[in-house]
Amino acid sequence: EKIKVVVTRQLIPEAQKLLESEPNLEIIQWHNENPCDRNWLLTNAPNSTGILLTLSDKVDTELLETAGPTLKVISSFSVGTDHIETSAVKHRNIRLGYTPTILTDAVADLAVMLILMAQRRGGEGIRNVLDGRWPQMPWSPALMTGPQIGGSVVGFLGFGRIAQATVKRLVPFGVEKVVYLTSRPGERAREDYFGLLRDQPVSIEPAGSWEEVARESDIVVVACSLSESTKHLVGTEFLGMMKKEAVVVNIARGPVVDTDALMKALDEERIFGAGLDVIEGEPNITADHPILRQKRCVLVPHIGSATFNTRMGMAMESVRNLLAVLRGEEMVNECVL
Ligand code: GLV
Ligand code: GLV
Repeated sequence: EKIKVVVTRQLIPEAQKLLESEPNLEIIQWHNENPCDRNWLLTNAPNSTGILLTLSDKVDTELLETAGPTLKVISSFSVGTDHIETSAVKHRNIRLGYTPTILTDAVADLAVMLILMAQRRGGEGIRNVLDGRWPQMPWSPALMTGPQIGGSVVGFLGFGRIAQATVKRLVPFGVEKVVYLTSRPGERAREDYFGLLRDQPVSIEPAGSWEEVARESDIVVVACSLSESTKHLVGTEFLGMMKKEAVVVNIARGPVVDTDALMKALDEERIFGAGLDVIEGEPNITADHPILRQKRCVLVPHIGSATFNTRMGMAMESVRNLLAVLRGEEMVNECVL
């Protein structure tokens, strides 16, 4: 009898080949570049042993009940797991795989891009040129000036792999100090990142509170996972404590930043700018969304891990995680529930 697996995305050919190399699989797959339709998933889930899905597919009691007791493994093509009701997964002894390490460098690269875009007014500059305003704004000493990374204090909300890889990139720019807030103190000071920093004149210290991160930082990087305790962590109060020339960058999940509060802070020029890879309500951000009228806010459509190599690696790893459980082997990355 064949083992049924449901795959909610198209995969790159290498990953598809790996999946199809497993004998005895009945592969039910969504063949469209767009996110898989919820009804399609619910219709195909019954009697499946494994489901390979990604961050746009909700894993909740409804899906798990619909799949039924045959379901042994969920493999998520993502580092984030906020689309997954982990307690419901754990309760049913279903194993969960994800891709937490392979995308670290790609997302840290994007964090640096957004910091530079926010400080150096990249979005605003591009718009000025596209809208034909350059002839009216010739070079002048104060034109489009902004803050600089060198000498700044960088504050991280969340200090996992991506945050630490971002530190590694920022140190050569001359940051003076790094403060961070983490719910997982065990994660701090990984040798693989900090070994490289030992000779650099930069202090890297835990912050006592989010208030301290808000008050001290010239650059705030949101790099924590989304949970009840991080939702709207960057809201009116946080933004109100930030320095007037500070920028905030979100490479984590949209709802960690309160969009209305951010727009208000930008309108009132209480902070200098923002760089967002994620936003509340994505992907339903249409051209009339008020955030797009913020000239000091750069928004890109959740592309943190979008490099050729990283997406290929994530696809291979999520197929390997799925197959590992079917074969009774260790997953490459199992999410401990
Ligand atoms: C991307 O946001 C991911 O969770 O992989
Ligand atoms: C979360 O990513 C943390 O490090 O607290």
